[in-house]
Amino acid sequence: MKVLVVYYSRTGHTRRLAERLAQAFGDRPRAIRERGSRRGPFGYLRSLVEAVGGREAAIDVTHPSPAGYDLVLIGTPIWGWHLSSPVRAFARCHAKQIRRAAFFCTMGGAGDRQAFAELEQLLGRRAEATLALTEQDVADIDGEGPSGRIAAFLAGLKRPGEPAAEHRRAA
Ligand SMILES: Cc1cc2nc3c(=O)[nH]c(=O)nc-3n(C[C@H](O)[C@H](O)[C@H](O)COP(=O)(O)O)c2cc1C
Repeated sequence: MKVLVVYYSRTGHTRRLAERLAQAFGDRPRAIRERGSRRGPFGYLRSLVEAVGGREAAIDVTHPSPAGYDLVLIGTPIWGWHLSSPVRAFARCHAKQIRRAAFFCTMGGAGDRQAFAELEQLLGRRAEATLALTEQDVADIDGEGPSGRIAAFLAGLKRPGEPAAEHRRAA
């Protein structure tokens, strides 16, 4: 199975999780890149306004096309209970090229469900599995709790067609 792990990360948490997930497939993750910087208070504010306002960032297409992959794992930080604007742009741009998708995010503590619902809507398909880790989880990524949740997420991908692991838990 050919798997693409693609992510956007402003401060490194989502990148760290993406690296861990890509490792499981013997690959490296691909970053969604954009021009300009989101550093500092102005970058924070701009990110929040774009995310909540449903705006798309201007991304550079340096990542591979998802068309050649069986499954695409898409990772985003949560911004204002929404998707990050670079990941929204990626989803709008590539929706038709994605056959199977799973989502992951990092966050302070809340907003994952709303963001994942938006991503499903943009892609026009349900996620096969979802994984949301807090910043604290990422800091302890090799710990028992985060490792177990990562393993459950990956196991959910091996059973296409079934509901996602976290959806099953919530049911
Ligand atoms: C503009 C902005 C808005 C944020 N909004 C939320 C939020 O609504 N809920 C939350 O749990 N964390 C929120 N966070 C925290 C990030 O989701 C969290 O730090 C995440 O791990 C950052 O990922 P990154 O390091 O890959 O950029 C926000 C961060 C930023 C920059």
